[in-house]
Amino acid sequence: MRKLLLTNIGMLATPQGRAAKKGTEQGTIQMLKNAWVLVEDGVIAQVGTGAAPEVEDAKVVDAEGNLVTPGLVDAHTHLIFGGWRQNELGMKLHGKTYLEIQNAGGGIQSTTNATRQATAEELTNKAAKALDEMMGFGVTTCEAKSGYGLATEHELKALQVIKDLNDRHPMDIVATFMGAHLVPAEYKQNREEYIRLVCEEMMPAVKEQGIAKFCDVFCEADTFTVEESRQVLEAGLKYGLRPKIHADEIEAIGGSQLAGEIGAISAEHLIVCPPEGIASMAKGGVIACLLPATSFNLGAVFAPARDMIRAGVPVAMATDFNPGSCPCLNLQFVINLGCLKYKLTPEEVLTAVTLNGAAAIDMADKVGSVEVGKQGDLVIWDAPDLDYICYRVGSNLAKTVIKRGELV
Ligand code: NIG
Ligand code: FE
Repeated sequence: MRKLLLTNIGMLATPQGRAAKKGTEQGTIQMLKNAWVLVEDGVIAQVGTGAAPEVEDAKVVDAEGNLVTPGLVDAHTHLIFGGWRQNELGMKLHGKTYLEIQNAGGGIQSTTNATRQATAEELTNKAAKALDEMMGFGVTTCEAKSGYGLATEHELKALQVIKDLNDRHPMDIVATFMGAHLVPAEYKQNREEYIRLVCEEMMPAVKEQGIAKFCDVFCEADTFTVEESRQVLEAGLKYGLRPKIHADEIEAIGGSQLAGEIGAISAEHLIVCPPEGIASMAKGGVIACLLPATSFNLGAVFAPARDMIRAGVPVAMATDFNPGSCPCLNLQFVINLGCLKYKLTPEEVLTAVTLNGAAAIDMADKVGSVEVGKQGDLVIWDAPDLDYICYRVGSNLAKTVIKRGELV
C-alpha cells in the first residue's frame, strides 16, 4: 500500500462535506492547528491533531508549520484552443469592446480558425503545458470545455484531447461540451441549421463516445438568445449532458433566470446578474460559478457575489482561462480578487475554490475538502495561515502540491 504522512501542519483549513455550501455555511470551515494527514493509496485515511502517529512504510512529508488546504478546483476553463489573441490588446486599449471585437471576426471566431488548424497533438501539448502551470499554482482538479471547434470533427477532436489528458496527466479533468459557444462564420446566415447541427449531430456523437459530462452555452447578446440556449440545454439533457450556462457576462438577457428554470448545475460569470436571476438560481439550486479575473480583464464590474450568498446561492470561483476574455490560469489571483473585489471572507473564498468548485462539476464526493474518504489532493502553502494567501498578490505561494497522495 502507498502511504503518505503529512506532518507538522501549522494550520489545516478546509470546508467539509460532499455538497456545495451556501449562505453562512459557505464561510464556516474547519481550521485545525498542529495537524497531520495520512493518505493511503491516494485516499485520505486519517486526519488528526497533535503528535503524528508512527506509520510503517509511509513517506513522511513535513509541512514545516505551514498552511495546508485541499487541492484547488478550477471549475471553469476553456483549456483547449489554438493560438493566442494578444493582437486584441491594442484594440481593447483603443476602446473596442469584447462584443465589437467578436462581431468584427476577432474573438472566439479567430480562436476557432486557429483551433481547427491545430492537430490533436499540438492541442494536447499546449494544454498539457497549461495544466502543469495550473498545478504549480495549487490546482488539482479542473473542468475543460470544448467550444473552439464549432464543427463536429473539431469539437470531437477537442473533447478527445481532454479525455487523453485526463488519462495521462495527474490533473483530474472534467469535460464540458460547448458546441454552442458561437455561431461560426459559415453559418452566420443560417443559425438554426448550426443549432440543429449542435443538437442532432454533435451531441449524439459526444454521447456515443462518452467524452463529456456537461453541456454549456454562451447565452449572450449577439451570441445565443435565451430561447436558443434553452433549446441547446434541453437537447443536451436528452443526451445525458447536465446543463451549465454562460449567463449575464456582458448583458443580462435572461440567462440566470433560465439557469434556475432548467435546473442547471451551475451558471457562470453572472457579472451583471439581476435580482430576478439570483432568485431563480436560489430556487433552482444552481451554483454560481464566478470568474472575477474575467471582470478584471474585460475592465467590467464584478459579480454581486455577496447578494448571491445572502440569497442562499452557493458561490464557486474559477479562472475562465481562455485566450480572449481571460488569458489567466492562476487561481491564486482569483482568490485575491474574491476578497478584494467581491468582499468575500477568506473562509468563503476557500470554499468557493475547493468544495463549491468541486460541486459545480459534480466532483464534491471525491475532492474539494480534506476528509477521510476523499482523494489525497492537498496543497502545502508558503504561508502561515489562510488570510496570508488571500492577502499576498502576485507571488506563487503554492509550495508543494500533492495529487492522490503523490508529490507533483
Ligand atoms: O467565458 N464568454 C464566452 N467564452 C469565454 C470567452 C471566450 C473567448 O473570448 O475566446 C468566456 O469569457
Ligand atoms: Fe467561459
